[in-house]
Amino acid sequence: MGAALQWTPALSVGVAAVDEQHQELFRRAERLIVALRLGDRGEVLPLLAYLDEYVAHHFEAEEALMRAARFPGLEAHAADHRRFRDDFAAMVRDFGRTGPTALVALTIHNWLSDWLRRHIGGVDRELGQYLAARPR
Ligand SMILES: [Fe+2]
Ligand SMILES: [Fe+2]
Repeated sequence: MGAALQWTPALSVGVAAVDEQHQELFRRAERLIVALRLGDRGEVLPLLAYLDEYVAHHFEAEEALMRAARFPGLEAHAADHRRFRDDFAAMVRDFGRTGPTALVALTIHNWLSDWLRRHIGGVDRELGQYLAARPR
């Protein structure tokens, strides 16, 4: 099994609204992974859509924050968001072909866990530091 799909305080970006969204992302990702392991296709499809919908909402909220703060790293950060959505769409297509196999469950679990920890612990935290240092 991959690493736990859990938000931890080490992933805090120091902006409460963003931290709450990240916690919700982890909750939705965890539900998806549980359903994938149980192997119920009828459960997995709506949970894929449920996660994707929240990801879109969260990325839009973060990009709006970056625009409002004139964050200089906006373009690169938004590009990472787009890559996530493209890769996620590719995984949903793979899932459509293979169904909920153990391999698909593990692949999606590892990918989600790695991506969330790398992105949130990296560029999202940089954004949080920028927002905290900005004069008000
Ligand atoms: Fe982000
Ligand atoms: Fe984020």
